[in-house]
Amino acid sequence: MSIKYKSYLLKKSTYKGGKSKSEVMVEGKTIYKLSSNENPLGSSPKALAAIQKHIGNLSEYPDRTDARLRTALAHFYKGELTPNQFVTTNSGVANIELIVRAFMGEGTECIYSNPAFGPYWEFPEKNGATAINIPLVGDHFLLDVEGILNAITEKTRLVFVTSPNNPTGTHIPKYQIDELVEKLPDHVILVFDEVYFQYTDAPEFVRALPYVLEGKNVIGINSFSKAYGLAGMRVGYSYSTEEIATYLRNLMRPFMLNSLSLEAAIAALEDDEFIQKTVEHVHTEKAFIYQKLEALDIKYWKTQANFLLMKPPMSPTDFEEAMLQEGVMVRPVAGFGASDCVRVTIGTREGNEAFLNGLEKVVHTFSNTL
Ligand SMILES: Cc1ncc(COP(=O)(O)O)c(C=O)c1O
Repeated sequence: MSIKYKSYLLKKSTYKGGKSKSEVMVEGKTIYKLSSNENPLGSSPKALAAIQKHIGNLSEYPDRTDARLRTALAHFYKGELTPNQFVTTNSGVANIELIVRAFMGEGTECIYSNPAFGPYWEFPEKNGATAINIPLVGDHFLLDVEGILNAITEKTRLVFVTSPNNPTGTHIPKYQIDELVEKLPDHVILVFDEVYFQYTDAPEFVRALPYVLEGKNVIGINSFSKAYGLAGMRVGYSYSTEEIATYLRNLMRPFMLNSLSLEAAIAALEDDEFIQKTVEHVHTEKAFIYQKLEALDIKYWKTQANFLLMKPPMSPTDFEEAMLQEGVMVRPVAGFGASDCVRVTIGTREGNEAFLNGLEKVVHTFSNTL
């Protein structure tokens, strides 16, 4: 008898995450990493102070539950949500994985809309489920609400939406989410990934929160990796109805969050000043980048997040390589369903200048070879 592998687990993973700096480092060369949507200003100082304060206690197990973090979250949401409406995990992506494990398996389906974040189809497929792509439509990457509703069957468990969306940086306007939530049948949960919500300024942007407050079957996914600058700590959370959140928490193992992640996240929630500084920085820098992209006549999309999508004048992988020669890491996003595009994180002014100077050089060299 040979080992009975699960056939759907033999499929190769496409969601690998972006490269780290050390993978591309050349000695003596400065590298600007604009490929993973990290915070260019570093980490929340309050979180760093909490990490320093607790680093001496690592011989002890952390709290058995995440109750303190969930209480801090309820406080952060001004008491509109209760601690029992939260589920904390080792990152936002781990939360998506938990939700998929909780609701999906062989014979079930989910719906997502490309260009999108890979885990929405990777994780369901790793659970033997089927993920159905109903692509975003038009140059504004709007949801195809009708297409999604038509694709729903009695096997559908989850519908994923992301706003602001990775990798497009665009948002889904409130009227589309309203329509989707209103028309989704009761057996389907809307998983609303909002990990970049802090950066938005579009008037018709909406979060998962109002729908959860109405008691709808909606889960909001959040992360401490982005605006709080804690990607290395791996901590995230979701919120939903008490019924859904309690069901999800049942799947968690004890001591899931390590002590430093717990303390960092609790402290970060109090760091409004850092979030404000981060958001102001991103807004100033995106305006600076737009100007130059327009001068260079590069097709790009205005962003509601801390990154933007653009079409390079050559193949995205050639562009990635050429920009690396200029000391800048960017991210081709074919794996996200945007085959001729590249995603660029908004960095420090110095990093953004390096990107724009490098881009100008690459564009000129390329047009001279035509
Ligand atoms: C749309 C989206 N959701 C979730 C995540 C997960 O973030 P993390 O796992 O670092 O918390 C990311 C990270 O890139 C993302 O872009």
